[in-house]
Amino acid sequence: MHTLAQRCNLNGCASHSLKEKMKSSSNTVGQISVAPMMAYTDRHCRYLHRLASPSALLFTEMITTGALLHGPRQRLLAYDPSEHPVAVQLGGSDPGDLAAATAMASAAGFDEINLNVGCPSARVQEGRIGACLMAEPELVARCFTAMQDATDRPVTIKCRLGIDEQTSDEFLHRFIDTTAEAGCRTFYVHARVALLNGLSPAQNRSVPPLQYERVFALKRRNPELRIVLNGGLTDTASVKAALEHCDGAMIGRAAYSDPMLLSALHAEEADSAAPTLTEVFKGYRAYVERQFHQGTPLSNMTRHLLGVCAGLPGARKFRRTLSDASRLKASGPEILDEAWTIVEDSVARHAA
Ligand SMILES: Cc1cc2nc3c(=O)[nH]c(=O)nc-3n(C[C@H](O)[C@H](O)[C@H](O)COP(=O)(O)O)c2cc1C
Repeated sequence: MHTLAQRCNLNGCASHSLKEKMKSSSNTVGQISVAPMMAYTDRHCRYLHRLASPSALLFTEMITTGALLHGPRQRLLAYDPSEHPVAVQLGGSDPGDLAAATAMASAAGFDEINLNVGCPSARVQEGRIGACLMAEPELVARCFTAMQDATDRPVTIKCRLGIDEQTSDEFLHRFIDTTAEAGCRTFYVHARVALLNGLSPAQNRSVPPLQYERVFALKRRNPELRIVLNGGLTDTASVKAALEHCDGAMIGRAAYSDPMLLSALHAEEADSAAPTLTEVFKGYRAYVERQFHQGTPLSNMTRHLLGVCAGLPGARKFRRTLSDASRLKASGPEILDEAWTIVEDSVARHAA
């Protein structure tokens, strides 16, 4: 069994740049997106990711319709203007509620509204949210229609390849065909099935094997649809390889653990200079200063920075400094300067 990158090399396609792929794509949206991740891709994380990549489409964490309709809507929909293009991900299955939530997100200025049909957690299943909805394509189609009627922004779907024992192409195609018939044009496909009984959400992101070939086949079967591959993409080579077959690549954990991967991907995609680590850090340092004075706890912001020096000498001490809870409680933004001095020389050497 070859990895995606190996398969791509066998096809002689690794030499293509992302820019060439972009030119050959008819859509205007950039091809790289950062996956929605609960408890991770909050507004501070997205601000950092935008500094690293001027072009990637950024996703919020999933927001349930219940939280939006009855909870702190203003806080849930808050973002910095620099985050554009930014997509909001909604979780729900009541068409009326989803329409109302979509209208709110649209009024708040989000560039895309995405429906979560991929989350396998038991808690969301109880609320009839997430991956379990793959078994109800007609309901998802009604939800999609209600959402699209409530906004002029694109409404998109994020899904899996199947659920539980429903792993056939027939099952997947029925889901895609039914929702495409309702008008959905873009699908973010996590290239795994979800096992809804017995596996935790974390296990559901690693135990079911990745099946890239099935996503590629889905694209070949539906050339008119925008199919974005998600799952297990960890470096520029695997992203380039994915783009040989699909319209986009969505990156989750790798972008969080090493935000500078987004900078490298931007440089490839846009064929322009990549934001440097120093620029990203200094930009985030200024943001932390502003947010801190508005009352945001330091630790809510420093936690997203822990991976930026991944692989550089001093990275461990940098991480330790910025994750020391008692010090963070007693400090101001200057603790970022202290952390930076630990890695500054190695950053300069690395850049040279
Ligand atoms: C901590 C965490 C939280 C996640 N939360 C969401 C979510 O809110 N909505 C969603 O559709 N997927 C969620 N996912 C799944 C990711 O969007 C993505 O599909 C998955 O991590 C596979 O991509 P990756 O291998 O690039 O990480 C989450 C993943 C992680 C690691």
